[in-house]
Amino acid sequence: MNNSTLLDLRGVSKTFGTTTALSPMDLEIERGSFVSIVGPSGCGKSTLFNVLSGLLRPDDGTITLEGNNVIGATGHVGYMLQKDLLVPWRTVLGNITLGARLKGKVTPENRELATGFAEKYGLGEFLNHYPSALSGGMRQRVALMRTLATNHQLLLLDEPFGALDAQTRFEMQQWLLQVWRDTERTVLFITHDVDEAVFLSDRVLVMSPRPGRVVDDLRVDLPRPRTLDTLVSPAFTELKARVLHQLHRERAV
Ligand SMILES: Nc1ncnc2c1ncn2[C@@H]1O[C@H](COP(=O)(O)OP(=O)(O)O)[C@@H](O)[C@H]1O
Ligand SMILES: [Mg+2]
Repeated sequence: MNNSTLLDLRGVSKTFGTTTALSPMDLEIERGSFVSIVGPSGCGKSTLFNVLSGLLRPDDGTITLEGNNVIGATGHVGYMLQKDLLVPWRTVLGNITLGARLKGKVTPENRELATGFAEKYGLGEFLNHYPSALSGGMRQRVALMRTLATNHQLLLLDEPFGALDAQTRFEMQQWLLQVWRDTERTVLFITHDVDEAVFLSDRVLVMSPRPGRVVDDLRVDLPRPRTLDTLVSPAFTELKARVLHQLHRERAV
């Protein structure tokens, strides 16, 4: 572990009854990096996030965040769950500040921070709207702002753009990269979409089918900012091919 390591997992495993969801996993994540995790459905991706966030306790292993053991703890990461729903009876502002409300009360500082994020990232006009008045992309922006407003360094995003159409998805990817760059957070991002993983990331981890373990760890050194040209560059295609081969090699056995 070196100075820039934010998160360090050693031998982390999780079993549900007779189902091994995660085989012992080691993983180091560098502060400020954007790391994607791809893998077949049911391989343990969401379980990994549940364990990292403290919603589930691992059977074995150690998890260290900023040098502190976080096993058994909660409230140390910003977590956007795979099915992250906005509260329909709260406004955009109310949804972004929900984390503070759940912890006790929403202070003027919480409201100011939330309003600042919303204004900076295209939601300023919608602060007093209810989720039902928003498009799918807008709703995902609000859910992400809520995650960001918890002010944690590490953000866990579980397939946040899975339900969006291709064009909205591409806009959201660029938007997320801007938010990531501005706020200097560390992102762990689960996706089924290999293009999305390569486009966004500094690193792509490929997981095997259950029991999940990391079978490939690719560095993506494509220049930033990433644009449409990134998507059609030979270097992008090469990286994408490698991820696809890893995914299918594992499935073909
Ligand atoms: N709370 C739970 N109780 C029992 N089994 C679970 C639970 N959560 C996940 N699983 C099982 O663990 C495996 C991995 O699930 P999950 O982590 O959700 O996969 P992924 O997110 O990669 O699709 C699946 O077989 C799933 O059915
Ligand atoms: Mg999942």
